[in-house]
Amino acid sequence: MIAISPRRRRTGRVTPGDVGKALYLELMKRCLTNWIHAEAGEDGFDPEVRVDGRDWPPPRGAHTMIGLKRLDNLHECIEDVLRRKVPGDLIETGVWRGGATIFMRAVLKAYGVRHRRVWVVDSFAGLPPPQQPVSS
Ligand SMILES: C[S@@+](CC[C@H](N)C(=O)[O-])C[C@H]1O[C@@H](n2cnc3c(N)ncnc32)[C@H](O)[C@@H]1O
Repeated sequence: MIAISPRRRRTGRVTPGDVGKALYLELMKRCLTNWIHAEAGEDGFDPEVRVDGRDWPPPRGAHTMIGLKRLDNLHECIEDVLRRKVPGDLIETGVWRGGATIFMRAVLKAYGVRHRRVWVVDSFAGLPPPQQPVSS
């Protein structure tokens, strides 16, 4: 579904700019999850699984593994921050191939936000071994 902010829809003040922004961000979500290329069954792609971010996309398969629903949630969270003017930068800790971070930049770009930075943090070595013994 194309995400136009609920308040804009309620007040009926949806401008062509809102529609363009929503279409751009929806296209970014489809590209970053590789929805635009994946055919059902190919490379293990299953739309019902990818929408929830429950698969592990193969190399060249997607830039993020979080799926469409969590990208929608990330989108709503950033719009909420912008609407309520919460100060500060954005950060993703544990980026894998960087798709969710790319999406964060895209939202800021769509809203013309230039003063917030997006930080990327990762070990780029997968999960570290546990340092504490597992207690029973
Ligand atoms: C599940 S993936 C993240 C998926 C990503 N958010 C996305 O949009 O596809 C977890 C990532 O966290 C990183 N990671 C795990 N433990 C870490 C740690 N202790 N410090 C830094 N990075 C870590 C891994 O290297 C991996 O890239």
